[in-house]
Amino acid sequence: MSVPRLGPMLYSRDAIADRVGGIAAQINARFAGRSPVIVAVLKGATTFLADLLRHLTIPVMVDYVRIASYGTGTRPGEIRFIKDVELPLAGRDVIVVDDIVDTGGTLARLRQALETHHPASVTTVALLRRAPRRSLPPTLDLVGFELDTEAFVAGYGIDCAELFRERDAIYVVEGTR
Ligand code: IMP
Ligand code: MG
Repeated sequence: MSVPRLGPMLYSRDAIADRVGGIAAQINARFAGRSPVIVAVLKGATTFLADLLRHLTIPVMVDYVRIASYGTGTRPGEIRFIKDVELPLAGRDVIVVDDIVDTGGTLARLRQALETHHPASVTTVALLRRAPRRSLPPTLDLVGFELDTEAFVAGYGIDCAELFRERDAIYVVEGTR
């Protein structure tokens, strides 16, 4: 692929802000009186996380993981952390924040890995879920938008070949539809 270019806008800055506020309200309600640890997945979730945090009214701690992405053939249960969690998770309510769930494989494996820390609970949140490719059992508790296209998307922290994270809206990457 040559230098990637953005095509049509899918979710505007305003539409995203609206949904992020809605997800935050659900988290505030669900975790009222509690103090969860947010575990955000680098790098794509950072913009979403930053906006989400500013809407939270419950006290939270924030940590990050970075996961090596394997090609096909990796058995479920295997995951390699380039950066693992640093905060203790035992007995804590954990909220995983990711950018986009495609097959659900990454999130399922991350959840398994976090369970070994014996948290009180694990709740998963993603801004986007690609509906057509969903092949694994549902692992997502809260989702911003159901993405009904096979096209690659980028913007609002989500990259295509490390580009477009700075865009404040989410776009289809040209030529991937
Ligand atoms: P999964 O394990 O198939 O659910 O893959 C999820 C990961 O693939 C996401 O966290 C993204 O890093 C990446 N990904 C999947 N689709 C897209 C896309 O359209 N744009 C950018 N990254 C994507
Ligand atoms: Mg990711």
